[in-house]
Amino acid sequence: MDRIKIIGGNRLNGVIPISGAKNAALPLMIASMLTADRLTLKNVPNLADVNLLARILRNHGVDLAVDGKRPGTTHLGETFHLTARDIVDTTAPYEMVSRMRASFWVLGPLIARMGQAKVSLPGGCAIGTRPVDLHLEGLKALGADIEIDAGYVIAKAPKGLRGARIIFPKVSVGATHNVLLAAALARGETVIENAAREPEVGDVARCLVKMGAGIDGIGTSTLRIQGRDRLEGAVHTVLPDRIETGTFAYAVAATGGDVTLEGTNVELLETALAVLPKIGAEVTATANGIRVKRDNGHIEPITIETQPFPGFPTDLQAQLMALVTTARGTSVIRETIFENRFMHVQELARLGADIRLHGDTATIKGVPHLRGAPVMATDLRASVSLVIAALVAEGESMINRVYHLDRGFERLEEKLTRCGAAIERISAG
Ligand code: UD1
Repeated sequence: MDRIKIIGGNRLNGVIPISGAKNAALPLMIASMLTADRLTLKNVPNLADVNLLARILRNHGVDLAVDGKRPGTTHLGETFHLTARDIVDTTAPYEMVSRMRASFWVLGPLIARMGQAKVSLPGGCAIGTRPVDLHLEGLKALGADIEIDAGYVIAKAPKGLRGARIIFPKVSVGATHNVLLAAALARGETVIENAAREPEVGDVARCLVKMGAGIDGIGTSTLRIQGRDRLEGAVHTVLPDRIETGTFAYAVAATGGDVTLEGTNVELLETALAVLPKIGAEVTATANGIRVKRDNGHIEPITIETQPFPGFPTDLQAQLMALVTTARGTSVIRETIFENRFMHVQELARLGADIRLHGDTATIKGVPHLRGAPVMATDLRASVSLVIAALVAEGESMINRVYHLDRGFERLEEKLTRCGAAIERISAG
């Protein structure tokens, strides 16, 4: 298994290109199942999760062609042409869905297009129980008949789905995607109340509009979808990754330095960027991105809780925690989305952080220095928080199990090395 070696202490200076958003690319790829025509997606990040979903979609009969690349253009992301002329298999097996939770979102499109689906209950990051009740209730409201048998969701709608009013009792990104995708091919109007407002949901909705669906309320918590009998092909560019943007912004704030994050924009993560002036860093919007700068001086502590968009994202909680481990004072971070998303705490402690956990709240007492140590990546976002901490720690850190990082961060070592970090991947051979 690959490991990453980091010698801490270098400031970051330069330019980091931001990739397309993983959390938009995945549901957009799934949207290709809704039409027999070609869906072209540009700016798709080259990530383990994207490649795994590509395999899952191929299994269903989706044909995927990837454009070739000229040397030197790799940072522009890949262009995927997806064509689901015939869905040859409506089963998504446990071996695949258990490796990536988002692949469960094929359920809605399969029922909508084929009138049937058999999809394994998901796995994914070990950050909480992560049920799928909201997905199932939403699809039932659209007329799907759903049973659970031997770890599989078996869904039928032989006469197709019909529009309905769905009020989610809790905000769920995945359930919103699943129902939104299905509703685009349902008869009549679907209204989703308390829909997730994450920018990636908006990106999927905009793509569905290009494919022919009628959707009002994009970016709000009430989505009104006019379903169609058939959808068409489209060309869509995946929006920039706000979690990657925030991660690098916090890394620069942690190490000090001056970095421009290119190809992204502040509207995607206002709450996360608002933290930076409070802890002592500067943020400015540039023509094509965001500049983050921190000179010498102390990092100030922060009190924050995670919330659905537009609140502070749970996917940046671990990174923010790494940033304030060396603050001048005590920070308090409350995790309200996932109950078990603190696995990074014990690893940060190995680097010298002083963190106490009480239920859903972490209290982080700033220490003057972190010290390098061997640590273990536990999930996607937790592992990148260890990278941030290792970049500021004195001496050498070795991060084990970096396959978690490869699921969601494209060319991380290369992007950081170009800005002056001493970071190196050690391949298992
Ligand atoms: C997505 C993101 C993930 C992010 C999360 C929250 C992708 C691929 N993943 O995950 O990176 O951390 O949103 O922003 O986009 N819940 C239920 N019942 C359900 C569904 C969810 O109770 O049927 C709960 C979950 O356990 C969790 C909360 O709702 O406590 C939010 O989860 P959800 O928004 O669904 O997360 P994902 O879509 O899995």
